[in-house]
Amino acid sequence: MKSRIKYKFSLKKYNTFGIEAQCAAFINIKSIDDLIQVLKNNKLPIQIMGGGSNILFTQEHYDRLFIKNDLKGIQIHEVSGEYVEVSIGSGEKWHEFVEYAVKNNWGGIENLSLIPGTMGASPIQNIGAYGVELKDVFVKLEAINLKTLEIETFTNADCQFGYRDSIFKTALKGQYFITKIYLKLLIANHVLHTDYGDIQKVLKEKAIENPTIQDISTAVIQIRQSKLPDPSVIGNAGSFFKNPEISTAHFQHLKEKFPNIVGYPTAAGMKVAAGWLIEQCGWKGKRLGDIGVHERQALVLVNYGNGHGADIQELAERIQASVVERFEIQLVAEVNML
Ligand code: EPU
Repeated sequence: MKSRIKYKFSLKKYNTFGIEAQCAAFINIKSIDDLIQVLKNNKLPIQIMGGGSNILFTQEHYDRLFIKNDLKGIQIHEVSGEYVEVSIGSGEKWHEFVEYAVKNNWGGIENLSLIPGTMGASPIQNIGAYGVELKDVFVKLEAINLKTLEIETFTNADCQFGYRDSIFKTALKGQYFITKIYLKLLIANHVLHTDYGDIQKVLKEKAIENPTIQDISTAVIQIRQSKLPDPSVIGNAGSFFKNPEISTAHFQHLKEKFPNIVGYPTAAGMKVAAGWLIEQCGWKGKRLGDIGVHERQALVLVNYGNGHGADIQELAERIQASVVERFEIQLVAEVNML
């Protein structure tokens, strides 16, 4: 086991931002027994890694053991009525499973096509796009408690899902290694989510009147490819900030000053498009050396090559300051800064 540990290991290929950083030790985990052995013998602080698609390394060196999750496997547990319940190893790639589900005509996650990262990371931030969130299809997960090394189960309610949020980002942060997630998908009578304007636009362009889940998946892929930079070409971690929620009164006040402001009503007030706020502050497409703000989606910060995480963090802070100054809104990062 020890021989598989790599020391002074570069993490550049293991984060979609493509930031150079080094860790004291690194290991790939392919089974739960493997993981337990590593945890029993290790003395360094640990850092669990999925696909590295929602992380920004702000330091050049981490005195930690990075554990890369490679737990694989897909298993059907139950087919009842219109549903299939399936479990997926947490190291499987999210989008590969979406493709597998769509191919099998299992509905529910087609709107979440092309999201980078692993299955295990998906509940941590309750991934979402185009009107669907993971929590809508999530049944439960299994995770190893890093203190007791026991496997525990968390139901949908236990995970305390919120907008890009769960208990694994708050009260239980860093305390569990998710090993498997269980989803419930529709095998018949699919419920399609086509309300999102961009999806409607694509379906109309293609003259598709009765879309299948495959059509939705293809449309989402097309939209994402047109707006979001491909991390294998330009380093990025998707939306850097969350879309903020403000009071209706605050929104109305802003609407008088900025009639084009983009916002959607929520239970608590109004959700505002952070990309719009950032664009209004003049940041869209701005490049500072090797880092910048994406030219087609201001919510995405990018690394053009040899950017440093600390510089991206500083850019994020400058963007936050200008949004506060102009709109009195505090943007909160969605990306996990380490
Ligand atoms: N907008 C601008 N300027 C910009 C970017 C956006 O004015 O530079 C406006 C758009 O015109 C649109 C609105 O903002 O009216 C919303 O833009 P978009 O549809 O691109 O979605 P978003 O709110 O910026 C969110 C998620 C994305 C998800 C899309 C689709 C967050 C933080 N981001 O982005 O998720 O794919 O909706 O559902 O909620 C991610 O989390 O990494 C991610 C990419």
